[in-house]
Amino acid sequence: MSPIVDRKLEHINVCLEKDVEMHRNTSGFEDVWLVHRCLPELDLDDVKLETEFLGFKLRAPLMISAMTGGHPKAKIINEVLAEVVEEMGLAMAVGSQRAALIDGRLADTFSVARRKAPTAFLVANIGAAQLISDLSPSDIRRAVEMIDADALNVHLNPTHEFSQLRGEPRFRGVLQAIRKAAESIDVPVIAKETGCGVSREDAVRLVEEANVKAIEVAGAGGTSWCKVEVYRSQMHGEQLKARIADVFSEWGIPTALSVVEVKSSVDVPVIASGGIRSGLDCAKALAIGADLAGVALPALRAAVEGGEALRAMLTVFIEQLRAAMFLTGSRGLRELRRADVVVLGRVREWIQARGVDLDGYLKVRRTL
Ligand SMILES: Cc1cc2nc3c(=O)[nH]c(=O)nc-3n(C[C@H](O)[C@H](O)[C@H](O)COP(=O)(O)O)c2cc1C
Repeated sequence: MSPIVDRKLEHINVCLEKDVEMHRNTSGFEDVWLVHRCLPELDLDDVKLETEFLGFKLRAPLMISAMTGGHPKAKIINEVLAEVVEEMGLAMAVGSQRAALIDGRLADTFSVARRKAPTAFLVANIGAAQLISDLSPSDIRRAVEMIDADALNVHLNPTHEFSQLRGEPRFRGVLQAIRKAAESIDVPVIAKETGCGVSREDAVRLVEEANVKAIEVAGAGGTSWCKVEVYRSQMHGEQLKARIADVFSEWGIPTALSVVEVKSSVDVPVIASGGIRSGLDCAKALAIGADLAGVALPALRAAVEGGEALRAMLTVFIEQLRAAMFLTGSRGLRELRRADVVVLGRVREWIQARGVDLDGYLKVRRTL
């Protein structure tokens, strides 16, 4: 098998077998508090989770973030993810399709997602670094066609490329490459990070200069790709590489902060992801302005157990979200966005240090 295919399998195995999550640099949701209402004036059953994202209807504001494809094991995972996503009316992205653009025999490990989820909101995925170096406009169209995608994720992963053995930490010209990719397809581009978050300065450039239609922040606090690569370097006896990367294992903008940075500076839909580990995290993310919540590693762990485990995991998230809405008196997502939120501690300090008027932002959010 090719080095890319081997790498894909190693990534899945390391994510399943090792502790690859951040613990010191948390997602920040522990500093976001929803104010309890003892008079919610609605029944739990009244709570409605339906939403629209980029013109597409979803039964709940939840997405399985980009993970995999390009390997037989990945095909089974995509199959399980897609089947459950279709059944529950959620959204899903596939992992980087580069391997299948190089070797067409791998296309099926991605297109299985569309076969199993004929009506779901499905997102194709390619890396920004590869857009610069080796993908043509026709490759980008092929990636979209491969899964009959409703949108294209362009993933931004400088921390990962830098820390990865034989990575490609070359991002010169990245904004122009994303703009060209957006021009070459007729579905929207969603720029996404991969666990280090998006700053407001970068959000503005992505929207204004690269024609990006939505942003998935994929902030810090969940899966750390640097940790994954430190483990891989150690496995391959590359101790020096591991030591260089290790200090960046908890690098990045925590997810809650990234949502506020992005949402306070650009007017595009935002997916909160990176360390979303419960339906309460989802509720907090939506309350501070996100349009969807995205989850990767917990869905992978469940999917390898099978469809039933994944269905259970997603049901727990959805019912926790519903409960948080009930307890804040929020009949729908619009009301959740108007719920009283208190932001304390590190998150408040960070936001203020970045010059964002947090209280002004939260007030404006309530009027949207
Ligand atoms: C096994 C695995 C593979 C991933 N592969 C990709 C990928 O190919 N493309 C991408 O954009 N993000 C990829 N990601 C990153 C996720 O989409 C997500 O941004 C990140 O894991 C943070 O979310 P989490 O904390 O819920 O895991 C991958 C994540 C995991 C766990």
